[in-house]
Amino acid sequence: MSARVFLNGEWLPAEAACVPVMDRGFLFGDGVYEVIPVYSRRPFRLAEHLGRLQKSLDGIQLANPWRREEWTGFVMQLAAEAEWEDQSIYIQVTRGPMAVRNHAFPKEVKPTSVILAEPMTTPPASQREQGIAAVSAADIRWLRCDLKATSLLANCLLRQMAVAAGCVETVLFRDGFLTEGSASSIFVVRNGVLLAPIQNHLMLPGITYDVILELAAQHGLPHEVRDITEVETRAADELWMCSSTKEVLPIVALDGKKVGADGTPGPLFARMYASYQEFKATVMRGA
Ligand code: PDD
Repeated sequence: MSARVFLNGEWLPAEAACVPVMDRGFLFGDGVYEVIPVYSRRPFRLAEHLGRLQKSLDGIQLANPWRREEWTGFVMQLAAEAEWEDQSIYIQVTRGPMAVRNHAFPKEVKPTSVILAEPMTTPPASQREQGIAAVSAADIRWLRCDLKATSLLANCLLRQMAVAAGCVETVLFRDGFLTEGSASSIFVVRNGVLLAPIQNHLMLPGITYDVILELAAQHGLPHEVRDITEVETRAADELWMCSSTKEVLPIVALDGKKVGADGTPGPLFARMYASYQEFKATVMRGA
């Protein structure tokens, strides 16, 4: 059975779901998106993902083509029907097609909306147990990184730097401060305290970031939300990355240098990981 794709209100076989070349999403990256993890066919924090989608749409002045209940219905339907128990559901809304190529918005906007499911591939156990290596780079993205925009060229170039170096993620610094990863949120542990960067226009308000801070509070892990300098990050005892698809992973090497004393996942990560697994089994899977 071919996977079904939602395109502008219709469910189509993936091969038949086509978007015109004049779509502004294709020509300008003029659109926004969401990635929603689904465990045991239960979309996780759907309301929060749809809330962030609305904020992204507001941020690019694009009217939401669907009501909240409609989005919820489409996503629930796909989560129930797709062939995998664990999925990653992708939503994209662009400013739609234009008659002639023109940066300014068309007078009459007909947004393009897409929803599709892919199998959820969480990181292999070896990455959680041994940790992953990362590189760092200057954060060359625009100044509205709080919007989940489809124009991801800078993120792609930055992520490719990690891949070229045989690493998993690129940790970004702007003006001497930690922002986030090319496709993840980053946490720092120093002197037994979990540090999270303050959410502002320079980083995406991650849904997993919230989960990590909630779990830290629930399980009594000392934590603080504040600006984190590049110097502090490079001298971290532990570094973590997290996202909807990577869950939470320890970064044990940054730019070829060991993180912490020995470059192995640290004690706070072990506690967080145990809490995350319990949370996933009970809350996310609803077991
Ligand atoms: N990206 N920061 C950036 C730049 C991201 O692209 C992502 C996730 C995150 C983490 O957000 P969340 O916890 O809500 O997944 C932070 C998704 C997974 C992607 O682009 O595929």
